[in-house]
Amino acid sequence: MKYGYFDGEHKEYVITRPDTPAPWANYLGSPEYGAIISGNAGGYSFVKSGANGRIIRYRFNSIMSDQPGRYIYLRDRENGDFWSASWQPVGKSLDRYTSECHHGTAYTRIVSTYDDIQSETLYYVPLNKTHEVWRTRITNTGTRPRKLSVTGYVEFTNSGNYEQDSVNLQYTLFTSKTYFRGNKILQAINENIKGHAGPDDSDENGAGIWRFFGLAGAEAARYDGDRDIFVGNYRDYSNPYGIEKGCTNTLNFNGNSCGALQSDIELAPGETKELIYLLGAYAERGANAIQAHYQNAGVVDREWEELKSYWHSRLNRFQVKTPSDNLNHMVNTWNAYQCFITFVWSRAASFQYCGLRNGLGYRDTVQDIQGIMHLDPEMARERLTLMLSAQVSNGGGLPLVKFDHNPGHEKTPDDPEYGAETGHPAYRADDALWLFPTLIRYLKESGNWGYVDEVIPYADKEAGTVYDHMKRAIQFSLDRMGPHNMPAGLHADWNDCLRLGAKGESLFVAFQLYMAYNVFQELAERKGNEQDVAWAIKKREELDRTIQENAWEVDQFIRGFMEEGGVIGSREDTEASIWLEPQTWSVLSGAARPEQAKLAMDSVYQKLNTKYGAMVCYPPINRDGHPVLLMSLFNPTTKENGGIFSQPQGWLILAESILGNGNRAFEYFQEINPASMNEEADIRKIEPYVHGQFVEAVDSPFFGRGHVHWLTGTASTVMVSLAEGIMGVQPQFDGLKIDPCVPEDWKEFSLFREFRGKALNIQVQNPQGVQKGVKSIVLNGEELSGSVIPEDRMKAENEVVITMG
Ligand code: GLC
Repeated sequence: MKYGYFDGEHKEYVITRPDTPAPWANYLGSPEYGAIISGNAGGYSFVKSGANGRIIRYRFNSIMSDQPGRYIYLRDRENGDFWSASWQPVGKSLDRYTSECHHGTAYTRIVSTYDDIQSETLYYVPLNKTHEVWRTRITNTGTRPRKLSVTGYVEFTNSGNYEQDSVNLQYTLFTSKTYFRGNKILQAINENIKGHAGPDDSDENGAGIWRFFGLAGAEAARYDGDRDIFVGNYRDYSNPYGIEKGCTNTLNFNGNSCGALQSDIELAPGETKELIYLLGAYAERGANAIQAHYQNAGVVDREWEELKSYWHSRLNRFQVKTPSDNLNHMVNTWNAYQCFITFVWSRAASFQYCGLRNGLGYRDTVQDIQGIMHLDPEMARERLTLMLSAQVSNGGGLPLVKFDHNPGHEKTPDDPEYGAETGHPAYRADDALWLFPTLIRYLKESGNWGYVDEVIPYADKEAGTVYDHMKRAIQFSLDRMGPHNMPAGLHADWNDCLRLGAKGESLFVAFQLYMAYNVFQELAERKGNEQDVAWAIKKREELDRTIQENAWEVDQFIRGFMEEGGVIGSREDTEASIWLEPQTWSVLSGAARPEQAKLAMDSVYQKLNTKYGAMVCYPPINRDGHPVLLMSLFNPTTKENGGIFSQPQGWLILAESILGNGNRAFEYFQEINPASMNEEADIRKIEPYVHGQFVEAVDSPFFGRGHVHWLTGTASTVMVSLAEGIMGVQPQFDGLKIDPCVPEDWKEFSLFREFRGKALNIQVQNPQGVQKGVKSIVLNGEELSGSVIPEDRMKAENEVVITMG
């Protein structure tokens, strides 16, 4: 079943059937003022923190009702019939009601029709602002004059803290009040208390926490500020009393606050009227200013244009036109946009993440940076600098970097306070090693070689150049080696469910370390530091011997060693006998011998691959509840316990492209490409335009069902695999290497890429239908030797023709 389509030209996904199998969401604003909205206008908003700054409610884990949200009710004042401008919450029969939801880049526009009335509602947060706008335009498409009431509605929280608001009712129900002043509902919490530290505004005396829901462009004839009065006893959002009978001008005192603003309008045939609802955490003065701003004609359209051009200008830095529309939509819009959203929002807030995670996971964030590298290297650098400043002076990463991170002054997992405060009591083995692939990508994308000498503080004490940070990251692993001289697994490696401890060892981290030596060698060579070059080579050779002696079994790499000596991920095991991460990383790190790479990747294809992607291990654990294998907490086929974990799929695609297997790389991509599930949305359930964290695997009764939408490292790994692997665009220190790895039936394709301020239009021809290999590159009419386009030969605008063969 299909519920919508991709509109590549406008960079939108258009939901044409609103009864999607799950709430299909979009993101508005930024974590400064963040809003999540579904195709039926469900969702919530917050200021600064999803956990502590929540201003409107959303009920998680309720029956699939996706409520409440940003509602606009329409009522025919002559016959009493009513509906909503989004299909839900009234939910009229789809025989008579149509809805088109256009999820775009940081805006959502819902167009609906019912009984000769069309409404078109645009929801957005203006760029760099901390309020939200819902502009609705209501048109009489019929032939008789109409009298309607239009009601905008929100359900406020009574406490910005999500948990307090949900459960501490003996307190929160008695702290909030509402007022109606100046065409808006104002909500005050703890009105008499001065000096609140929360993100919400206080009044001119510095007292209370205030929010507002206001109107511009129309007058509210009636209102309600009390949710239970508005909805009415034994009713719900599909038939509120305040809509059926009319709002009663009742304000909240000792109950749940809401904002309901009801206007009466009349529409001649063909006539359109516009109402603008505004929401934010502002007291009266700030709210008045916002309302006044929207009295000016054209403001909304200007802000909307600004928003589109902000996003599109970033996404347009890399555009492709290949024979696969599904791939094009992902690279050109959705995968790229998801990379930004995941980068900016980290794992803070979605319909699964309730906003309680108040910080940046080290490994997640350092990987997220890679996904936007080619689109905004400056933004990438800022975040990379932050993450380097969250590296402890012993070289390890802080597992969680708090939003108020204070470099040079932080406690670390060595201090009990850090664990108590963050819930992360111990170091992970992988965290700081992610810096290597991210840093090298930044240097090669930007050409900013001077960055390696920049001095950045460590999280706890001391400071060092970026180069020094990298050396200490390696040292962190070297100081924590296990009995086979492989890196210890510590509290986790990439796989959060592996507790291998200080004596257990992780092959995944061994491959990360192998890559780290390669990158460090490259840096040392460029710096002319021969001693470090020799050291990196020697250490890598030592590690290589260890890996070769201990970690290879016939046709696969193992996963690691347990503290007491047993192997994890051995062919001999009856459960979890082959794992995806070590096979892919053996190739990405360069550690696998060519014949090992082939055998390992063939094993993945034979033993882990499914039509919806490759399982993270197989068979899932059913009986072996061994303490190091925390994944056995999860149902078999789920998440780390043999699920199709989505993030490693990017490593898989990239590994196959490194090996030159374009057919297989593309096959793997299509298996997990959300867009290729557009017609199978009832199986996948979550959005067909963004990746989720995992997909249930082959033995699940719901094989193919996706979970944990939007905020996942999958966005960056798959983006990198598409950009560098399949499309083959690989920045180098001195230029841009183009070495595509494509399915053999791609006879031609093109791409546009910005690189260090230069524009390149690249045509690729593949007359012999090869999967990899570049025969010639012609830059602005001149043939080059090799596969790198040197930066110093690029003009502002360049025409490049590449012939594969
Ligand atoms: C989740 C975590 C991530 C971890 C992955 C695998 O996605 O956010 O940090 O690497 O699971 O366990």
